[in-house]
Amino acid sequence: MALVLGIETSCDETAVGIVDDRKLLANVISSSVDQHVRFGGVVPEVASRAHLEAMQQVIKQALIDASISIKDIDAIAVTAGPGLIGALLVGVSSASGLALALNKPLYGVNHLSAHIAVDQLDNSNQLQPAIALLVSGGHSSILQVNNLATDVIVKGATIDDAAGEAFDKVARIMGLGFPGGPIIDKTAGDGDLSKIQFPRGLSSSTDLLNHKFDFSFSGLKTAVSRYLDKTIDYKKADVAASFQEAVVDVLITKSLSACKESGIDCLVIAGGVAANSRLRQLAGERCDAAGIKLSIPPIQLCTDNGAMVAALGSLAINQGANPSQIGISADSAATFSQIIW
Ligand code: KG4
Ligand code: ZN
Repeated sequence: MALVLGIETSCDETAVGIVDDRKLLANVISSSVDQHVRFGGVVPEVASRAHLEAMQQVIKQALIDASISIKDIDAIAVTAGPGLIGALLVGVSSASGLALALNKPLYGVNHLSAHIAVDQLDNSNQLQPAIALLVSGGHSSILQVNNLATDVIVKGATIDDAAGEAFDKVARIMGLGFPGGPIIDKTAGDGDLSKIQFPRGLSSSTDLLNHKFDFSFSGLKTAVSRYLDKTIDYKKADVAASFQEAVVDVLITKSLSACKESGIDCLVIAGGVAANSRLRQLAGERCDAAGIKLSIPPIQLCTDNGAMVAALGSLAINQGANPSQIGISADSAATFSQIIW
């Protein structure tokens, strides 16, 4: 049992979470998203500066929420990659400084695995092995998770845009704003999801031969753009709902096919896009029908947060992982081959 403080700064959220083993005690997030809106995407330098400015206050608030003192913390975990390099470095330096000052162990952890690890908090089901669908702004992967801290096998990934990126780009094409995922989710609420038959990428029988568990969303983005260009009278809600259905349908179909092929009856869906209401609904229906146990973290823990970092740190400690060296460097392009630094 350990009290772990987790720091996340890989993109535009300065976030600190505190967990006591698998119990969530605090989850504080300060987002710089408002500063990026006018650029239509995250500006790395702006994000790094915002992390520097917010860090101390976010740590303080997390300690207050958890009703503990900084001296009670047993270990510090921090996202060491992947992500924006300048943003990651703010988190890694802050965590290293804290670990050094408190004389506590430091655990550099992988952001992508952390998205999945957060599902274990306050959850009595230990879903391992599991198939995981990881869908965020930068990644869309189907994974076989044998052990979250040591053994994750990539079965497939996107060959172009990530699912979240597709939401963000299509929202921009439709003039809906940034970030696109939550706005499309909301806009689609009043729409007819079967109004427009948008393409399901890499789903034809020939594509399935070489790309069974891979995704492609750039053709879908182009299809939406063409539809808007050539159609005079359309409802934005119908376009949003039909686009969303095309993404969600292919994500779930391929995840269930991975479960079937590997004989694993647990599916975990994680990452920012796992907050999507239609994805959550359809995954529930299809998993029920297929006899697959489904686990999705609560919505507020799907997008970037510090609790997920603390959760993976805690898991690593429970498995006897060695602490990281003080002075670890961040790796903006880290893959699942490095889960703990
Ligand atoms: O995991 P995350 O917070 O950050 C990364 O690690 O990338 O994911 C952010 C992505 C963004 O592309 C955002 O548009 C998408 O998650 N997203 C959603 C929803 N909420 C966030 N996509 C679809 N529906 C949502 N409700
Ligand atoms: Zn993320």
